[in-house]
Amino acid sequence: MTTPFTPTKTMQLNEVRQAFIDFFKSKNHTPVESSSLVPHNDPTLLFTNAGMNQFKDTFLGLEKRDYVRAVSSQKCVRAGGKHNDLDNVGYTARHHTFFEMLGNFSFGDYFKKDALAFAWEFLTSPDWLGLPKDRLYVTVYHTDDEAFDIWHKDIGLSPERIIRIGDKGGLYQSDNFWAMGDTGPCGPCSEIFYDYGEHIWGGLPGTPEEDGDRYVEIWNCVFMQFNRQKDGTLEPLPKPSVDTGMGLERISSVMQGKYGNYETDLFVNLMNATATVIGVDCTYEPSFKVIADHIRAVSFLIADGVKPGNEGRGYVLRRIIRRAVRHGNKLGAEGTFFHKIVPALVGQMGEAYPQLVAKQEEIEAVILKEEEQFAKTLAQGLRLLSGELDGLNAGDTLSGETAFRLYDTYGFPYDLTADILREKEIGIDEEGFNREMEAQRTRARESGKFALDYTSLIKVDTPSKFVGYETLTADSQLVALYNDGKAVESLAEGDEGVLVLDETPFYAESGGQVGEIGEITTDTGVFVVEDTQKSGTAIIHYGKVRMGQIEVGQKGFAEVIADVRWSSAKNHSATHLLHAALREVLGDGVAQKGSLVSSQVLRFDFSYDNAITTDELEKVEQIVNDKIAQNDTVLIEYMNINDAKAKGAMALFGEKYGEVVRVITMGENADKSKFSIELCGGIHIRQTGDIGLFKIVSEGSIASGIRRVEALTGAAALRYIQTGERVLNTLAKEFKAKREEVLQRVLILTDKVKDSDKQIEKLTQKLASFEAKALMDKVADVGGVPVLIAKVEGVDAKGLRSLADDVKSKLHNGVAILASVSDGKIALTASVGKDLTAKVKAGDIIKSLCESLDGKGGGKPDFAQGGANDVAGLDKVLANLKDELSAKLV
Ligand code: ALA
Repeated sequence: MTTPFTPTKTMQLNEVRQAFIDFFKSKNHTPVESSSLVPHNDPTLLFTNAGMNQFKDTFLGLEKRDYVRAVSSQKCVRAGGKHNDLDNVGYTARHHTFFEMLGNFSFGDYFKKDALAFAWEFLTSPDWLGLPKDRLYVTVYHTDDEAFDIWHKDIGLSPERIIRIGDKGGLYQSDNFWAMGDTGPCGPCSEIFYDYGEHIWGGLPGTPEEDGDRYVEIWNCVFMQFNRQKDGTLEPLPKPSVDTGMGLERISSVMQGKYGNYETDLFVNLMNATATVIGVDCTYEPSFKVIADHIRAVSFLIADGVKPGNEGRGYVLRRIIRRAVRHGNKLGAEGTFFHKIVPALVGQMGEAYPQLVAKQEEIEAVILKEEEQFAKTLAQGLRLLSGELDGLNAGDTLSGETAFRLYDTYGFPYDLTADILREKEIGIDEEGFNREMEAQRTRARESGKFALDYTSLIKVDTPSKFVGYETLTADSQLVALYNDGKAVESLAEGDEGVLVLDETPFYAESGGQVGEIGEITTDTGVFVVEDTQKSGTAIIHYGKVRMGQIEVGQKGFAEVIADVRWSSAKNHSATHLLHAALREVLGDGVAQKGSLVSSQVLRFDFSYDNAITTDELEKVEQIVNDKIAQNDTVLIEYMNINDAKAKGAMALFGEKYGEVVRVITMGENADKSKFSIELCGGIHIRQTGDIGLFKIVSEGSIASGIRRVEALTGAAALRYIQTGERVLNTLAKEFKAKREEVLQRVLILTDKVKDSDKQIEKLTQKLASFEAKALMDKVADVGGVPVLIAKVEGVDAKGLRSLADDVKSKLHNGVAILASVSDGKIALTASVGKDLTAKVKAGDIIKSLCESLDGKGGGKPDFAQGGANDVAGLDKVLANLKDELSAKLV
């Protein structure tokens, strides 16, 4: 019987972290600092969620480091994204939004054997954690006999302690097959479980009771072997590697003889600090746990540069802060309190993470501001609620719709509303609330970006003034709102719709440049602009109310996202330079047929009848980069259309121009004349040097006589080049060759593969002729006619055909039917000697075989072939065939 465990030594959380690092240092691992919670250069990831994230490219063989063994304690956040634990936090023993993952890594150095031996030594050796071996169980991926044998034979675990775990649902969908995300490094894994003892309910992994809390996973050792592609296929990694992860909080609770993470030193201290700040007794109820957990996630996220906002990471941070504040209110907190817990956290974790100390003030200020803003939203919700309550008396019920509106617009959780109503003895229509929740989920699923094409539906008489050439912001007035294509007076939180301002800094899509994005804030709400378009004389902003609500007639502060504008401007100016450079290199026949300019990429379509050579393309690229290096001022002028034409300005296809036009001029030719002069309403940079770098990434034909160039600028161009560099450098290392020699090596290798293929074909033919000889022994005499009916192994359709030819030439005037099974499919041939075709026809034989075997085929009277699927039925059908043939031949 297993009882609660008292560790032979008690270790504080900070001590466990240190011991882990020290152990792996003693095994020649290089200690590596935790990377930021905001993953760099990885758009597939919202937050860093595992120790291996920072080593992703190293596993993939794209990046080489000067060590092959590493150890780290990595900050992780699992809220939002693939691994999302937010809603569980506070109510379970071990869920966190923020946690630390201890991990050791091998990059093509050691593999399964050492990884498992290290883990076992660290956990059980009295010099390290000293856990009793009879408390530990392990799992392996069901087909991983190698890992099973290492645990059993090398480490000495009895087979009952090694559990094989299979797939659930689909191939590799298993607790014992770990993947970083939908794409990227992945592989089978072996997990180590700790048994808390019989007094806690739960069963071993793989049993129906596995979700209980008795056996807790403490360490996951992943054998990184594959790179999962977008289409789900697994490509082997250059070298098998190791990635492990052990939750510091979990293993610390084991080392402190505690059942839950929240009972360990760090969390108890944070919960006590929370109670002191709020001014209540600490009861360790879930709300305290929520706050202790959330203060860590929030502080570390802010320290890593995340700001509360309405999008992506910022939105997740905002949700975590709001959740903590609500729980604080539940505990009786009055006014702002959450930021006051930061000093306690810094006291606990500042030594291990000096950036917390350095950024303490900033963290406190950001939280305080967010708390104040949320308090306003809450107050509005309370006002709405008290209005609704006016008509209700004790014993009445509040409608589910109102409860939902409070939740959806003002962030009132259902239980907060229920609490307030309980005091007044008023109930809530819970079913109605759930119906509304479900309806919202359905709406969210169904609505793509925008279901309606507003430009055709909206008729706004008031022209909008565009002020964005000079500025990114504007104080303006909300003149109209639309929802579902109809004019409305207000939009509530979560509503999608269209907003029209009297003045706007947002550039509406035109001349190839996409519409701008940003935010419009009023006193009561925030509207996130996801696109901007023209509709008649109005400029319309598509988007969604992310907070509060907005009304027609309100003042609004409009703000375009600066980085996005800046990147689009670089791409737009670069498009002008590209246009002029193409004309210089390819001639005046080049005429613009279309373009697309976004913050990420630029695309230019133009008429040109010939293919473009690499030399020409490089020249174009060179010219554009020369003009960038000139750092010429981009001149923007307004002038009469005729003057503009006289100046030599290129007009854009299909654009209508007024009397007065905007002319953009940039770059100089050798004779000091201007390089690019275009009529254009778009947003541009100030100096050509602002573009930084220009790189063409593709060129090709998109229709007869029309070609398309795609290109990148600035940091995006640099990233593109760096990625190519990495690939080339890795290839060079792989081939042990200089970079310039890699191409030659690849060509040689391709030739070699071709030669080998030819060789293989020759050998296969030789083999077939041996086989043909052997088959002759099986020829039977049917009424004086030599007949061969045979099944051969492992030959594909092509091989079978050449075998059939061989057999035929040996049989002279006979009948030969051959079948082979390869890759789950049957290949069939039939040959009949010329003199016999009056009696049996090869085509008929194959047709009848295919009919019985679920296949297709046919041919001439003397030779025919086919393919079929019913592998199981083949033997019987061939046996019957012999009788059928004798009947015809005799
Ligand atoms: N990367 C592995 C995990 O997160 C170790 O479980």
